[in-house]
Amino acid sequence: MSVNIIIGAQWGDEGKGKIIDLLSADAEFVVRVQGGANAGHTVIIGDTRYALHLIPSGILRPEPKCIIAQGVVIDPEVLLEEMELLRMHNIKLDGRFFISDRAHVVMPYHKLIEASGLRTPNRDIDTTKRGIWPAYADKVSRIGIRMGDFLNLPFLEDKIRHNVKQFNTVFGDSSKIKEDLSVDHVVKVYKEYAVKLAPYIADTLTILHDGLDRKANVFIEGAQGTMLDVDMGVYPNVTSSNTTAGGACTGSGIPPTSIDKVLGIAKAYITRVGVGPVPTDLTDATGDLIRERGKEYGTTTGRPRRCGWFDAVLTRFACKVNGISEIVLMKLDILDVFPTIKICDYYEYKGKRLDTIPADVTFFSEVKPHYQELPGWQVPTSDIKKYSDLPQNAKAYIQRIQELIGVRIGIVSVGPERNQTVIKANEAN
Ligand code: GDP
Ligand code: IMO
Ligand code: MG
Repeated sequence: MSVNIIIGAQWGDEGKGKIIDLLSADAEFVVRVQGGANAGHTVIIGDTRYALHLIPSGILRPEPKCIIAQGVVIDPEVLLEEMELLRMHNIKLDGRFFISDRAHVVMPYHKLIEASGLRTPNRDIDTTKRGIWPAYADKVSRIGIRMGDFLNLPFLEDKIRHNVKQFNTVFGDSSKIKEDLSVDHVVKVYKEYAVKLAPYIADTLTILHDGLDRKANVFIEGAQGTMLDVDMGVYPNVTSSNTTAGGACTGSGIPPTSIDKVLGIAKAYITRVGVGPVPTDLTDATGDLIRERGKEYGTTTGRPRRCGWFDAVLTRFACKVNGISEIVLMKLDILDVFPTIKICDYYEYKGKRLDTIPADVTFFSEVKPHYQELPGWQVPTSDIKKYSDLPQNAKAYIQRIQELIGVRIGIVSVGPERNQTVIKANEAN
């Protein structure tokens, strides 16, 4: 039994949901540790497509207990909708779904502040508008409301009244705040949420620590991706949480010494939702073809995702900052039609070679990708079940990525369904 972290090794939407669903059949716990309803994890099981924003994807298996741990910021409205949807699909929640009493709550004023554009960086970062950054800002300002407050209604009411009054004082006169925030209304709505969610709120630290004492099998479901980490990504084009392996520890309370394995999820190409430099971005017909074949439209916002060739520099960087010991390569099937396929092996900056991700966004926007070009395979791979049956050129492509990132690729995904997954034996190449 072991503790495994599943981390996005690119810009998010790598296919973390599919892999969690695939690997968590025998898990005792699946845990979300950071982010909020900005995440969209799609799992396809037969004819049903589930798009999960807050509840761990392990909920779709009958056995695992699913936890939203303290590092997540929770929008109760989205959570209750998601719970209802799962109940409609006869998915059991009672006794197997827990919400940390330490997790922070997304409030209506968070979404209003974000939508108003009153506090933005000096360059657009095109967020998901889910109230994520204001909720995390309140958390570190120590004025956040926590899920544990839902268990003490007079205390919750007091905090909401205090915060809404302060919000109205600071922002109330601004013409950019479109909605009038009535204190009584927010108190009423959030007390109703509290009553509905109270049965699921628990001390998830103790639940997890008891599990670790029993040597439980645990999967941590990362949200977003390494390049969106608030510290490791290219600031300010990032999200507001630590999306990398360290965030999994602070976000769950599982200590670093208990982690057995960090599995990185990477697509066979790259995508990015939102603005910011993307060295291998393809703004031509090739990018459009990847987008159409890969159905690359945001699960949360429906925005078209920018698409480009695989960037070995950034996945190598992701392997280093997360301690990734194995990569799962997703959506290989999307590349089935291309006569040639490129991989960025390093960047060029002002005539010099660059092998890592710079901190500075202007610097990063000026790097040029250097490419290796490989022959495509031009046969369908979606029905392939054995690694040895993959076309030779596909295996050569996988091998080249592996060499460039310096980490083994252990699983290759060739379609959205559970059975469209190819396990690569140790000796295979
Ligand atoms: P996540 O946020 O990392 O969980 O990823 P998303 O769910 O946002 O995006 C991944 C999309 O790719 C989903 O629609 C999946 O159903 C789909 N998908 C996952 N793996 C594969 C694959 O190997 N091939 C294809 N064609 N689609 C895949
Ligand atoms: P999953 O878990 C892809 C991006 C947004 C924006 C930036 C900041 O499905 O991989 P935010 O609303 O978080 O403040 O926006 O981060 N972003 C994602 N991109 N997948 C996600 O999640 C994302 N969550 C946030 O597009 O550029
Ligand atoms: Mg997603």
